[in-house]
Amino acid sequence: MNGKRILLIVGGGIAAYKACELIRLIRKAGGSVRCVLTRSGAQFVTPMTLAALSEQPVHTSLWDLKDEVEMGHIQLSREADVVLVCPATADLLARMAAGIADDLATTLLLATDKPVIAVPAMNVRMWLHEATRRNVAQLRADGLTVIEPDEGAMACGEYGPGRLPEPDAIVTALSDHFAARAPAPLRGRHVLVTAGPTHEPIDPVRVIANRSSGKQGFAIADALARLGARVTLVAGPVALPTPAGIDRIDVETAAQMAAAVDEALPADAAVLVAAVADWRVEAADRKLKKGDGPPQLHWVENPDILAGLAAGRSRPPLLIGFAAETNDVVEAAIAKRQRKGCDWIVANDVSGTVMGGERNQIHLVTAEGVEHWDEAPKAAVAARLAQRIAEQLTGKTALR
Ligand code: CTP
Repeated sequence: MNGKRILLIVGGGIAAYKACELIRLIRKAGGSVRCVLTRSGAQFVTPMTLAALSEQPVHTSLWDLKDEVEMGHIQLSREADVVLVCPATADLLARMAAGIADDLATTLLLATDKPVIAVPAMNVRMWLHEATRRNVAQLRADGLTVIEPDEGAMACGEYGPGRLPEPDAIVTALSDHFAARAPAPLRGRHVLVTAGPTHEPIDPVRVIANRSSGKQGFAIADALARLGARVTLVAGPVALPTPAGIDRIDVETAAQMAAAVDEALPADAAVLVAAVADWRVEAADRKLKKGDGPPQLHWVENPDILAGLAAGRSRPPLLIGFAAETNDVVEAAIAKRQRKGCDWIVANDVSGTVMGGERNQIHLVTAEGVEHWDEAPKAAVAARLAQRIAEQLTGKTALR
């Protein structure tokens, strides 16, 4: 919700107190809130509370002349990205549906050209009443979003639908609203991402592993999906939740990862973030026993998935490798880009706490040169890389 401006209309119902927590959560998610408080809303929460939480002036009256000079009701709605009515009482919904404009809130709602989301809260019988059904249907037909109330015990002692959804659910609905309207430059593109470590078995209980957490790869898959791409994420053994809308294939070994990547082709771009084991051993089919002495491991080279993709017939038009290095990071990455035959190398210094950590500092090595990006949270690095990929695939910058 970064930088999004919410105009919050607080109606008069006991659920108005939840608007306070809602303001806090929206701001925590990066949005800003300006409040309009109806006359009955002010019976439940004070303008002072809302002003303190939003750190913005609170508007209550259409006849506040000072407001007309500094911030008229038209401008108030123009400056918002969305108008959120919460709680929306039965009376407020009825006046909205009828197009009445007899106070600041309803005048604003009639004058706005911004999306309006209403979050109703009322007694169960009021919610189920024919008149409210009619008003909600009318508002939805007019293009407003009316969120379904929760079901449960109510302040009035009754039980049923009519409770205000929890503030975090309202924030999720708001985020979904913005996500659905976000530009999707990668719509129609397929991007393949590998992430995490591989585990190479020694015997049925032991593996050779590495410290890759998968966080950066998962964040990249997520960021690409947010730009509208169809993402196939081939993941080594990690305990991370699957980002929304992503096709995830779990694998264990490098050989399985290579097969899954092959299966997922063709792709418009591939971002190989996984820390693939360069070597595997010929695994014993029975558990090795300590009494037999130190095992003799017979090492076999794993397929190089990145180099294989680069040389293959289904080479994705944009092929990106990662290089986790501990010395001469940039020099090693420049050489690796040429050796592997990929377009970009994302290089990072893993001598510190990058592996498993929350932040990353990378150097983007392309045919044109090297870009040094500032250290940032892994999600921010992912968002920037996804944006670069989108620009590349949509032809906004030349590949070579
Ligand atoms: N990679 C891969 N398959 C492998 C090994 C690596 O696809 N078997 C990919 C990684 O996902 C990463 C890139 O290649 O995108 C860099 O891997 P790295 O292990 O650093 O490359 P190496 O050629 O093994 O170089 P080094 O000598 O530094 O280990």
